[in-house]
Amino acid sequence: MTPVIEVTNAVKQFDSVRALDELSLSVIQGQVVAVLGPNGAGKTTLLEVLEGLERLDAGEARVLGYDVGRQTREVKERIGISLQATAFFDRLSVQETAQLFGSFFSRRQDLPSLLQTLGLWELRERRVSGLSGGQRQRVALAMALINDPQVIFLDEPTTGLDPAARREIWSLVEHVRQEGRTVILTTHYMEEAAYLADNVIIMDQGKILAEGSVGQLLRDYTGEQTLILDGEGLDYLTDPPWNFVADNGRLVWHVPNLSDHLDRLLSDIRSRGSVIHHLVVREATLEDVFLRLTGRRLVS
Ligand SMILES: Nc1ncnc2c1ncn2[C@@H]1O[C@H](COP(=O)(O)OP(=O)(O)OP(=O)(O)O)[C@@H](O)[C@H]1O
Ligand SMILES: [Mg+2]
Repeated sequence: MTPVIEVTNAVKQFDSVRALDELSLSVIQGQVVAVLGPNGAGKTTLLEVLEGLERLDAGEARVLGYDVGRQTREVKERIGISLQATAFFDRLSVQETAQLFGSFFSRRQDLPSLLQTLGLWELRERRVSGLSGGQRQRVALAMALINDPQVIFLDEPTTGLDPAARREIWSLVEHVRQEGRTVILTTHYMEEAAYLADNVIIMDQGKILAEGSVGQLLRDYTGEQTLILDGEGLDYLTDPPWNFVADNGRLVWHVPNLSDHLDRLLSDIRSRGSVIHHLVVREATLEDVFLRLTGRRLVS
């Protein structure tokens, strides 16, 4: 199957910052892909390149088979975009905003049914300036869908929303996936990536560090459980063979089949006369994957 998105050795340089550093990526149709990474990782730059808003310095990006740099118009007709910060004309109503946006495209979805789907029909006469954060994000989603796109890009669609509004956006993204569209979204919320995405891309400093389903990433990098320790005389655990990660005064251990290794660990600690104050075992998350990969936390 031809990939919907194919990026090869993409480089984007802003002055001294390499926002994309030889990045390659392939996305197949109908997937929800979540790009996860800390501030400045290059998530927005990646999306803006794919949307035809930024040009690559080297490498190639193709969307739906079109070269984004050369065939920008063909790409823009077929994709939907919701930017990280969406500025609307505050004095327009929801319906007027959608009509205005739709007028930029030759191909359009039926507006009333789109507004119905997104729960905006009742709000159609309201000015955009008076909407809540969650309602504004739904308008942003309407804008992204208005030209009936095959691929949609959502840059942090739920940042700043309360949990209920976030869940509403999640169910709308799920709906968009069921329509067969491909969705690429960025997020700082690992639980959002875990909930929505078929494929998670972990980015840092312009590079993809790891990619796969959540289950695959946990299996490959952390195991299913994470052990957290603090105490005295434990710093040696960051060295081989244990390879714990130091995190905010605590020591974190990612190892497959944790229970198989626990006896060995505890007797080693005891034999050195070290002391454990706290020991916690919990389910591993994408945060642990990031910590394992970089030694840093995703959300600081
Ligand atoms: N127009 C620009 N001019 C100069 N530097 C830029 C520009 N756009 C992005 N950068 C830099 O490129 C790097 C990647 O930025 P980008 O916005 O892609 O990160 P991000 O992962 O989206 O971060 P955030 O989570 O904060 O939105 C950052 O160091 C940023 O400062
Ligand atoms: Mg961004």
